[in-house]
Amino acid sequence: KLAEIDPSKLSVEKTAAPKELTPPEELVFGRTFTDHMLSLEWNQSSGWLPPRITPYQNLSLDPATCVFHYAFECFEGMKAYKDSSGHIRLFRPDKNMERLNKSAARIALPTFAGEQLIDLLGAFCALEERFIPARRGYSLYLRPTLIGTQRTLGVGPPGSALLFVIASPVGPYYPTGFKAVSLEATDYAVRAWPGGVGDKKLGANYAPCIVPQMQAASRGFHQNLWLFGDDEYVTEVGTMNLFAAMRSKDAGGRPELVTAPLDGTILEGVTRDSILALARERLVPEGWIVNERKFTMKEVADAADEGRLMEAFGAGTAAVVSPVRKISWRGREVECGLEEGSEAGPVATRMKDWIEGIQYGDEAHHWSHKV
Ligand code: COI
Repeated sequence: KLAEIDPSKLSVEKTAAPKELTPPEELVFGRTFTDHMLSLEWNQSSGWLPPRITPYQNLSLDPATCVFHYAFECFEGMKAYKDSSGHIRLFRPDKNMERLNKSAARIALPTFAGEQLIDLLGAFCALEERFIPARRGYSLYLRPTLIGTQRTLGVGPPGSALLFVIASPVGPYYPTGFKAVSLEATDYAVRAWPGGVGDKKLGANYAPCIVPQMQAASRGFHQNLWLFGDDEYVTEVGTMNLFAAMRSKDAGGRPELVTAPLDGTILEGVTRDSILALARERLVPEGWIVNERKFTMKEVADAADEGRLMEAFGAGTAAVVSPVRKISWRGREVECGLEEGSEAGPVATRMKDWIEGIQYGDEAHHWSHKV
């Protein structure tokens, strides 16, 4: 049973010093924040205390607070969009609530009733409305974060917690349109493993990914590609899920859109799920096969060698889709189907258009939640 939050008890303390808006074209992802934050404290005896919106401010925590020592932290990434009539919309917020609850439960942090937090997110976004640019590609990135706050070095379930939400106005990931990225397959580190926590959005999953990313960058690649096991299964790219479009060897060369299955090592991306649903609805009637299955780097390289690799792209909330030009693997470069001068394949392009169309309310769809 998920613990109840009472949104009717929300208190709002408005800032006395409203910030100046950053011109949209100068926005850098996650650098500027809105005027306020939403906070909810929890403790074992009282459950969730009344939610509060306050001016954006520092946290004050004892150095012995358990989050600093044992990484009791999980988070979400989601966005609020302004539609052409000025209404604020969230995209599939129920999915983020579900995932945050799964992440929280895995690290002994409290769960919560998702609809109640969605109501509070709506109130928070409405208050920060002026920070949401009314432009395609622009949005307010929301960062719900849940931490254990018990003051103890004892290793055990936190008896108190803090859920806070901060918000950052963001522009398009690629301000000048799509830019295909090059990847380096990482062969000396793994991101996640069976029975591990790679499917949860824990902060602790992200810090260890920075060194492999830096190593890839030092050799001129934009991102690293995470493989798993001796068979080198393709899992994720940087902090995104990965999709590949390949013509099948059999089945008359039918095109297949493939991504790794949710076997516990793959983050349950909301964009991943949306792409799969749209592909099943809109690509399958065109003759596509859509599969969540394990596939190896060798299979991708063979498809490239045989001219069957059509395209590959990352999928996540921040970028929506991120086309891949090539993958460096075992001393060779696997070209991912983009023509010279082209920055995105047709599937990536259509997916981005479809998903943004829904996010910005241009296409009426039950995934878009009007605040
Ligand atoms: C995404 O939305 O693709 C992410 O996971 C990025 C986020 C961790 C900044």
